[in-house]
This record gives sequence, structure tokens and C-alpha cells, in this order.
Amino acid sequence: MASTNLILLRTLISSVFCCLLIPYPVLANQNGDYVISIYQSRMLQDKTSKVNRSEAVAHMNEHLLKYEKEAEKAAKQNSQMLVLPEYCLYADIKDFNRRSIENFLEPVPDPAVTFPWTPCDIENATDDMVIQKRLSCMAKKNKIYIVANTGDRQSCNRTVDYGCPYDNRFQFNTNVVYAPNGTLISRYRKKHLYFEPYFNEPRVAEHGVFETPFGRFASIVCFDIYYEDTFNELIQRQNVRNILFLNLWFSLPPLFLSVPFHSSAAWGANINLISANIIVDSPGKEISFTIGGSGFYSATSGYSYRQTPGLLTETMSNLKPGSLSNFNRVPKRKTPAPPTNQNVTIFSVGLMKVNSVRLVDQKGLISVCKGEFCCALDYEFASQPNASVEYMLGATNFADGSRQYDAQACSLCVKHSDKMCEGLPVNEDVQFARFKHLRLFANLFKTPFLYPQVTVINGSSYRVLQQKMYYDSGEMSLTDTAPLHSMSLLGRIYPPHVSGTSHPIISRALIIGLVVFLSLS
Ligand SMILES: *[C@@H]1O[C@H](CO)[C@@H](O)[C@H](O)[C@H]1NC(C)=O
Ligand SMILES: *[C@@H]1O[C@H](CO)[C@@H](O)[C@H](O)[C@H]1NC(C)=O
Ligand SMILES: *[C@@H]1O[C@H](CO)[C@@H](O)[C@H](O)[C@H]1NC(C)=O
Ligand SMILES: *[C@@H]1O[C@H](CO)[C@@H](O)[C@H](O)[C@H]1NC(C)=O
Ligand SMILES: *[C@@H]1O[C@H](CO)[C@@H](O)[C@H](O)[C@H]1NC(C)=O
Ligand SMILES: *[C@@H]1O[C@H](CO)[C@@H](O)[C@H](O)[C@H]1NC(C)=O
Ligand SMILES: *[C@@H]1O[C@H](CO)[C@@H](O)[C@H](O)[C@H]1NC(C)=O
Repeated sequence: MASTNLILLRTLISSVFCCLLIPYPVLANQNGDYVISIYQSRMLQDKTSKVNRSEAVAHMNEHLLKYEKEAEKAAKQNSQMLVLPEYCLYADIKDFNRRSIENFLEPVPDPAVTFPWTPCDIENATDDMVIQKRLSCMAKKNKIYIVANTGDRQSCNRTVDYGCPYDNRFQFNTNVVYAPNGTLISRYRKKHLYFEPYFNEPRVAEHGVFETPFGRFASIVCFDIYYEDTFNELIQRQNVRNILFLNLWFSLPPLFLSVPFHSSAAWGANINLISANIIVDSPGKEISFTIGGSGFYSATSGYSYRQTPGLLTETMSNLKPGSLSNFNRVPKRKTPAPPTNQNVTIFSVGLMKVNSVRLVDQKGLISVCKGEFCCALDYEFASQPNASVEYMLGATNFADGSRQYDAQACSLCVKHSDKMCEGLPVNEDVQFARFKHLRLFANLFKTPFLYPQVTVINGSSYRVLQQKMYYDSGEMSLTDTAPLHSMSLLGRIYPPHVSGTSHPIISRALIIGLVVFLSLS
């Protein structure tokens, strides 16, 4: 037994070293440009999922008909790839459950096993591949890469597979990528579900990497962007610098607004992030959190984004493979002690509670704490703000024991008619104020994974500022601002790695420890 373990350990170690030492293949044209499109859909979420398979197919075909036209348009614009958002086939369904979603799913083969699989070329396509066939033909007909989010079902056997669900099938939220000849070249299953009890999570994070003649890409889905295994590890280990981000984003101001947060993720990780988001209208709901906001975010050459539905096309430049991220540990800072009689207002960002205080004076250096974590703001308004708005400085230090969502954050946002923190698109009733200067920082972030975000108003629209304009080593500093919508610095604390997965996360320290152990034994 012991010697078997030793061999296993040695194999493990050498394979880890291989990962560390073998350089990744670098494609000659990975430094070039490429043209890419996204389609931001808009849907009203009022349809039922209680339909049979042929009705489900008819439902999805209606959306596909629209996407086929967009694929043609994109190809005419010389676009090389079209990316469709998460739930692009059924975001208008309001009542999915595990059983009712089944008719919307098809088994998607693993291209690492079944290759080449080109459903467009299968003449006698069965009923359980009609949607995949249509996506494959969309790619082939327009000679363009098609990236779409679909639902994937795989039968399993509970006798042999311990994780197999009671209904003998896995259901996954799945991205597919079809090459311009119609062949399936990538399948990626969402790892971090967000209130989707009808789907299963894969046991370990899969990395949906694929090569094209114009660079290396990978796709992820929505909440995956908030996790280390599906985001940072994908980028660092697979050396991917073009991430296709299919999402249906819940915009929670001020920390998780789509465009500000997504752009800060692109900057932090130092990548190109292509975000295909979707606008979902919910009937009878006053506040919609699913307001879209799609775009192209480059860590080096800037952002373009839009809040309205439609086709967006952009030329992107490949980033240098192996370039380092902008995530760095930041130094401790001294924040002034808050006054003992401080008037603290508590508000929520999703599950997170934020302690906040009002900017009372024309200028000052103020602070607010949440437990040990303190945020400070040195500010001066350009002129006295309109009495209808109050600017609030907030501090968050979130840990709920599950360790899934932990984060620390400092934020500045507007309170207007009792509503804390305005969302986007811009509310024209709010008279946002300009600042002569602003400096935001915290006493101690426990994590290097910081997401700085600043959003200002431009007429009836908004603009998200590029981090290099104002961010340095844990501090955000701006002068003579446009009317300020919000400003925040979010520090993400990742969950600890679960041991016993098939991709153990092994630190260098542990490797050295093992090597010492083996050389001793
Ligand atoms: C599916 O439902 C529709 C409407 O109820 C019905 O007309 C159709 O025959 C059904 N199809 C099948 C294959 O059961
Ligand atoms: C399609 O027909 C061919 C030839 O009859 C057969 O080999 C193949 O398995 C069929 N494919 C499917 C998916 O039914
Ligand atoms: C599940 O696997 C067991 C053991 O291999 C086998 O006896 C059984 O028939 C399988 N069940 C199904 C539904 O395939
Ligand atoms: C289609 O293109 C892919 C990617 O270039 C290639 O690997 C695959 O073999 C091609 N498929 C067919 C059927 O030729
Ligand atoms: C405390 O702050 C809230 C929100 O800004 C305000 O409505 C309230 O009047 C303040 N109370 C005191 C005692 O200053
Ligand atoms: C303050 O804002 C209100 C609307 O919220 C507006 O009617 C009023 O004109 C503004 N006052 C000034 C001085 O801009
Ligand atoms: C402000 O918006 C206008 C159009 O409304 C646009 O032309 C201009 O470039 C924007 N300014 C900035 C700095 O983004």
C-alpha cells in the first residue's frame, strides 16, 4: 500500500512539475487582431415551461431564427465569431423546474471524446439534436464561430455513479462552440450556478479552452467569473487571454453592476473579456436587476459597451500570452477612527450588509467600519450637491460561514428618494454631483483580488472609467470628476479549495514539502 502511495505521489508531483515547467504552445498569430460580435437579446419573462418537446423546440427555434439573421449580419461585418448570451434560448421562461426544463435540453457530446461531431452534416439527425444541428448550421452557413449557451442532459446510472441524481440524468447549463465548418469544438458546463436548482454543477471546474487561427479562447458562464477555479485558474493555468463571458447578470449596485464589475474583472485579470449579457424584463416587477450591459473589455486598450439590445461588433487585439494579472497584495493603510456618535445606515447588496455614513460636509476625511474592516474617504464636492441626493460611504465585510461569497468592500453611492444606490441605466431624475477630489482606501484588505470600479454620468448615459486612470495599489484617487454615479473597491475572498477533487490544487509550498518528504523516505 505504502509504496503504491509513494508512486502515486511521485506521479502527481512530476505531473505538477510538468504543468509548471512545460511552456504553453504559442500560436504565431496570437498577437494579431480579430473581429468579434455579441448579440444582446431582450426578453419578457412570462412564458411557461410546462410544454412538450415539440413545443419546446418550436420555442427555441423562434429565438434561433432571430439569431440566424444576426449571424448573417455579423458575417457581413467580417466578424469571425458571434457570441450569444446565457439563456439565449429560453430566458423568457419564468417557471423552470428540474422536470419541465428537460424538454429544452439535448445531450451534447464531449468534443475531446467524440470528434469531429458536426450535426449540420448529419442527415438523419434525431429529435434530440435539432437545436445543436441548427447552431452548427448557423456556423457553417456563415463561416463564423458560433458560441451559444444551451442546456445539456446526460443519462447516468445511480448504481455505478454515486453522484447521479434521483432522476437518472445530469442537467447542465452548457456553452457550445461551433467552428466555421459546423464542427463542435468546445463544450463548457457552468460550475457556479446562481439560483438554478434545475441544473447540476460538474464535480470539478472544466476549462472550455479552444484554439482558433486568431488566438486562444475559453468560455465561462455568469457567476463563474466570481470564482478562482473558473476564472483565475483558467487564465493562469491555460494561459488564455480571451474569455468569452456568456451571462444573465443580476446587477446589484454599487458592487455588482454589470459593466463596472465586468470591466474591473477584465482589468484585474489582465485579459480581453467579451461579455454577452441579456436584458430580461419581469412583468409586474418594479425593479429589474437583469438590465443587460454587454461589451468588450480590454485590460490594455479600453472598453466599449452598451445597455440597449442588438448586435455589437468590435476589433480586439490579442494580449501577450503569459502577461501578469493586476491582482496584487496591497499595503495596510491607516484610516481615521470613526466618531463614536456616528449615524450609521445599514443597507443590503444581495446578502451583504453595508454600514454607511453620509457625506455631510462640503469636504472632509471620513471613515466607516464593519467590524475590523474600515474604509476612508478624503473628498471635496465641486459645489454643494442638490438637496435631493445624499452621497453615502459604505463598508462591507461579508462572511456567512459558507465561505462561498466572502468579500470586503468600500463604496460610495447616492441615496435618492430613500433609494440606496442607483442602478444603471441612468436615472435622469438624479442630480449626481461633481467632486473636486476623491480618495478612497481601506485599512486592510485580506485579499489581493481587488476590483476597482468608477462610474460617472455623461448626459443621459454613463461611462465606466479605466482603472489605470485612478487606481494604484489599493487606493482610488480622482480629481475634477464628471457627475459621480458610484465608486467602489471590492475585495474578493475565495472559498478554500476542496480536497479530494480530481484536480487537487497544489501550492509550491506543498510540493516542496512533498519533495522533502520523499527524499527523506
Ligand atoms: C404537444 O402539445 C401540443 C399542444 O398541446 C399538441 O398539439 C401536440 O400534438 C403535442 N405534441 C406531441 C408530440 O405530443
Ligand atoms: C444515420 O444513419 C446512418 C446510416 O444509416 C447511421 O449509421 C447513423 O448511426 C445514423 N445516425 C443517427 C444519429 O441516427
Ligand atoms: C446500472 O448499472 C448496473 C450495474 O452495471 C446495471 O446492472 C444496470 O442495468 C444499470 N441500469 C441501467 C438503467 O442502465
Ligand atoms: C472543422 O474544423 C475544425 C477546427 O478547425 C477541425 O478540427 C475539424 O476537423 C473540421 N471538421 C471537419 C468535419 O473537417
Ligand atoms: C441619520 O442618517 C439618516 C440617513 O441619512 C437620516 O435620515 C437621519 O435623519 C440621521 N439621523 C440623525 C440623528 O442625524
Ligand atoms: C435639484 O434636483 C431637483 C430634482 O431632483 C430639481 O428639480 C432641482 O431643480 C434641482 N436643483 C438645483 C439647484 O439644481
Ligand atoms: C459623452 O456622450 C456623448 C454622446 O452622448 C459622446 O459623444 C461622448 O464621447 C461621451 N463622452 C465621453 C467622455 O465618453
